[in-house]
Amino acid sequence: MTNDFKPLQGMTDITGVEVLKWQQIEEQARNIFDTFGYSELRTPILERSEVFLHSLGDGSDIVKKEMYVLEDRGGRSLVLRPEGTAGAIRYLASMGEEANNMRVYYIGPMFRCERPQAGRKRQFHQIGAEFVSNPNPYADVESIMLQFELLKKWGIKDVKIKINTLGSKYDKKNINEGMLKALNKIKNRFPKNYQNRIDENVLRVFDWKDEECKKITSDLPLITSFMSADSLIYFNKVNELLAEVDIEFEHDPKLVRGLDYYNHTVWEITHNSLGSQDAIAGGGRYTIQVGKKQINGVGFALGIERLILASDFKREENLIKKNGIWIVSLGEKAIIENMKLSNKIRSLGYRCGMELENKSIKSQLRKADKFGAKIVLIRGDQELIDNKLIEKNLENGLQQEFDLDDWIRILGEKNASI
Ligand code: HAM
Repeated sequence: MTNDFKPLQGMTDITGVEVLKWQQIEEQARNIFDTFGYSELRTPILERSEVFLHSLGDGSDIVKKEMYVLEDRGGRSLVLRPEGTAGAIRYLASMGEEANNMRVYYIGPMFRCERPQAGRKRQFHQIGAEFVSNPNPYADVESIMLQFELLKKWGIKDVKIKINTLGSKYDKKNINEGMLKALNKIKNRFPKNYQNRIDENVLRVFDWKDEECKKITSDLPLITSFMSADSLIYFNKVNELLAEVDIEFEHDPKLVRGLDYYNHTVWEITHNSLGSQDAIAGGGRYTIQVGKKQINGVGFALGIERLILASDFKREENLIKKNGIWIVSLGEKAIIENMKLSNKIRSLGYRCGMELENKSIKSQLRKADKFGAKIVLIRGDQELIDNKLIEKNLENGLQQEFDLDDWIRILGEKNASI
């Protein structure tokens, strides 16, 4: 394909059967969210830069190098949202007390200018959920349960959930100081280009993929060793509750997240078929400052592109609906009469299409097939005079003549899809 027809690198047009999968995933998600008492929130895609800068963390990869930042005509700095939590919390903070215990979900595009590779897009889509709640292990577990219900509904198996605790927001200072002290002792063992990255965010050293760094960080104390007893009790409770609801998990004491707003429980769900970008979902508990307000919550986001890669979607053929009605017009005069008939059919809730030019019957039948028609109706001059139509069922080949009014009455009585 020449560049004229291509979208930007790392971005994709979603059409055809692919779009049917997306619709199914989204519809099933909406149903599950509804059963958990979540309501949909649609925030703007473009936000003021401040919405993301501090909440995601000045030292995070997203803020440092991945955000699409642009300036509007008034010189204001704007960002194409790289994730959904900050915008959702900006809105929820505006609601005052009413936001307490609110559960919202969102489905939509996010933008990160990352190096494109398999499973990593520059425009990708998330299904996310946020629950405004003060620290409470039961709320964290409910959020994880919700994700598992979604994955179950989509038929995605072989997932693994890793969880960890980052301690309460009051532990942060202690953890950072303790870790920095420990890191300074071994700092010069790290390759030169990593040494000055330590100060940006001490915990992110656990996320470095470099094998040599991994070996060195294995000598560091665990994050939990700098936490208060209360935070450890909180995390133990989360572990206990997850076992209680039969969710298998692994405690990974080195799991950290790429965003700074997290505290207490964090998690990542991976799928073994995805290669190096194997996270299908990530989430956790957080505290986000909006103006003078601090909002506590827990939530997660699943990446739709990765969900689709992880699911084999064997039901693909079932997604293509062969349930339409196609009207074939024999002669010019029949076209307008059939337009009236097709509208009548649509008003009864059926998918109906027809050719709007005077074309051969062969060409019209080809289009019927493309439309996914199950039934073809044929009307020409004689049928118009007699107020009749010929119905041909493409599935079983049966052909029958009907009185037009009878046929419409029968269609109105049928409530199964045609
Ligand atoms: P995140 O881990 O950055 O978390 O992203 C969540 C999911 O979005 C990932 O697990 C992945 O499936 C998908 N994803 C992220 N980046 C890309 C990409 N470049 N291409 C394709 N898929 C991608 C968040 O965004 C947090 N806001 C989640 C959250 C909600 N935490 C609390 N509430």
